[in-house]
Formats: sequence, structure tokens, C-alpha cells
Amino acid sequence: MNTQALAVQNDGPEGLYSRGAGAAREWWRVSLSEREQMFRIEHGRGAAGEGAVDIDTVVDLDNLEAKLLKWRREGFVSAAEREDEARAVEAGSQFAAELRRAAQLAHEAALPTVETGVRIGNVVMPLAPEGTPSALVPRINEAYLFTARTDDIALDIVENHRVMLIGHTGSGKTSFIEQVAARTGHGVLRANMNGQTTIGDFVGFWTVKGGETVWVDGVLPVAMREGYWLIIDELDFAEPSILAVLTAVLEPHGRLLLKERGNEIITPHPSFRLFATANAAGAMSAFRHLYQGANLLNEAFLDRWRVYLFDYLSKEEEAEVLLRTLPQLSPMLAQTLAAIAADCRAAFAREDLASTFSTRRLIDWAELMLRTGDADRAAGPAIYAKVSAEDAALIRSIIRHHAIFDVCSSV
Ligand SMILES: Nc1ncnc2c1ncn2[C@@H]1O[C@H](COP(=O)(O)OP(=O)(O)O)[C@@H](O)[C@H]1O
Ligand SMILES: [Mg+2]
Repeated sequence: MNTQALAVQNDGPEGLYSRGAGAAREWWRVSLSEREQMFRIEHGRGAAGEGAVDIDTVVDLDNLEAKLLKWRREGFVSAAEREDEARAVEAGSQFAAELRRAAQLAHEAALPTVETGVRIGNVVMPLAPEGTPSALVPRINEAYLFTARTDDIALDIVENHRVMLIGHTGSGKTSFIEQVAARTGHGVLRANMNGQTTIGDFVGFWTVKGGETVWVDGVLPVAMREGYWLIIDELDFAEPSILAVLTAVLEPHGRLLLKERGNEIITPHPSFRLFATANAAGAMSAFRHLYQGANLLNEAFLDRWRVYLFDYLSKEEEAEVLLRTLPQLSPMLAQTLAAIAADCRAAFAREDLASTFSTRRLIDWAELMLRTGDADRAAGPAIYAKVSAEDAALIRSIIRHHAIFDVCSSV
């Protein structure tokens, strides 16, 4: 929208237009001329009114409008616009202050006080109720690093929101949920949507056992009845019938209607939580070409989830994970390996590489490197054999650039 043109129609173009500050300040002043339908324009520097006016002329409206456009392009702002801007900043800070107060009230009202809990990042999460079957509780990975990025997700889990984690493969989506479950003592069931999972596996099916027809619960009703956490991996590959079943369950405390079982209604156990991971949904849609066969999840469906973009760890965090996972590595080795991964990801973002570099791949490479004592040999099965020849060549040059071979040959 051209506010200058509007100003001409509404309030008139008269006024001061300025850019810069102090000695560098430059201004144009527009006033009505004594001649009808004509405008006087003056130009000067420094504070308006002081210093010499170096241009003083009279123009018609057409000419003035062209000048207003030109000034706008050159960064001149009218005094009226400056006032609007100041008011907006003022209103913005009022909004921010009131929001802070409202959030504080909500915080005090809503946060459940947990006496016995376990700390995940900066959030204390309640433990699973006593008597929760332990066979399905994942094993704790002591090396797992919870970062500040996961605090909001931990709170969502406490408040029973549906959480979807989107991000490239191997960024730690599934393992984050598993590690929270491991530490809070919740059983986890996983259903991978890429390929094998049918609606029967998911919801359940009738079968004949010893001459009798019996119903076998699918993974969703099992998790809902028993209070497990269900992770639906790679949800963007799910068949439409599965998405349709999910939609009903996605409401908070949403119940499942088993049509196949004479419309049995399953009410979720209070410990039941539903998670999904996806590679190419929502904000990750731009990468769909990397995940062949991924479906676009529509916005109405996405609106039933809290969707978090799970990026790779920072270089420093990843070096720490490497050291925690493989304590034999030295800090220098860990930092160098993390820097290589970061460079490969940057090359991927520039589309110089067709494949990204997951934390999983990095850890695996480091592990193999410790066994072989040879970074390049270890990179064969851990990296090169998984990517195109061109990508392998570029990754090898990135590794070389970080002088890995020097470091390792001296080990
Ligand atoms: N924050 C982290 N701390 C420790 N290890 C991590 C972290 N994030 C990822 N990893 C490692 O990366 C591996 C792959 O992560 P995963 O959760 O399977 O990725 P995704 O589900 O995003 O494909 C994990 O098994 C773990 O070893
Ligand atoms: Mg995963």
C-alpha cells in the first residue's frame, strides 16, 4: 500500500519527511504554495529549520506524488508515520506486558504441583503410577542430552497434548520421546507408518483361534487401554484410513470407536499419550523430495497437534553427546567430528549435498572409527556407502579439510 498516495488523498501531503539522525539527518519539507494546486518543497540537512535550505521550489501535485514515491524509496519517513511507529511500539510493549501478566496467572492456575517427579531439562515431570508394567519401558540412554528446546514439549506431555515432532531423519525425535518415557517409567509402543503398518495392525482385527473367532486389539487400542505412550513414526507415510481413525482420538481425552467390534468405545487411560514423528510435514514440506512417498498432512489435521520442529543439535551439544556416548573420544576429536557433521548439513542446506548427516550417522561413524582407528575406513560403511559417489567425494573432502586423517594417524 502506498501510504504517501493515501496521505495525499486524506490529510494532504504537507509535512516533514526525514531520514538519518544527528548531523547526517536529511529532510524534505512540503507546504502549500501561494499558487493554487501547487506545493512548495524545501530540502535541508540537520535539524529542520536550522541550517541552510539548499533546495526551495514549487511543484504541482503530479510532480509531488512522484517525489513522495522517490523519497519513500530513499528511506524518507513522514513525521506522521514516525508518530504511528512510536504508537505501535508503545502498544506492542503494552501487549507484551499484559501477556506476561496473563501467562503468569495461567501458570499459577494450571501447573500441577508434582511432589515426586523426574527432571527433564527444566521441567519436573510426574512418574508413571505404581504398578505400571515395566517390560515396555525403554532403557535409559545416559548419554541422551535434553536441551532447552524440549522444555515446552515436556510440559505438553504433562498437560496431555498431542505432540508431533517434525525434522530430518536422525535428529533425535523418536529417541527424545523414548528417553522421557524411560525416565518417567512409561511403557512405549511404536508404530511405523513407512510401509508395513496396516489398519488391521493399528486398530485390530478378528481372527480364528482354536475354532473360535476372537478379536485382537491393534496397537492403538492396546496403548489406550493400558496407558502406554504410542509413537506413530513417520506419520506422513500413513494410509488415509489410519489418519481417519486417528482424527477422533486426537481430541484431548478423545475416545476410540471400534466399529469392527460392534461400536465398542475405548476411553483412554489417564497415562495414555499420543506422539507422532514426521520428516516432511508442515514446515518441513520443502524437503518432501527427500522423503519419497511422504504425504502432505493437511492443516486441519496438523491443528490437532502441537507441532515442533526438531532441528539437529548445535555443534557444541553434539560434541557433548559424542563424548557422553563414547567417553574414549577426546574433546578435540568430538568437536572436530561435530564440526564435520555441521559442515555437511550446511552443504546439504545449500543443496551441494543430496543427503543430510544425522546424529545417528555421526555416532555410528565415531564408534566404528574407535574400532578401526581409521576415520576414512570407518566412513566407508558408516557414510560413503549410503550416499551417491558425488556426495561421498564432497563429504570426504569436508572430512579431509578438518584434518581428521592427521589426527587419527597419530592416535
Ligand atoms: N539429544 C540427543 N542426545 C543424545 N543422543 C541423541 C540426541 N539426539 C539424537 N541422538 C542420537 O541419534 C540417534 C537417532 O535419533 P532418533 O531419535 O532415532 O532420530 P529420529 O527419530 O529423528 O530419526 C539416537 O539413537 C541417539 O543415539
Ligand atoms: Mg524416528
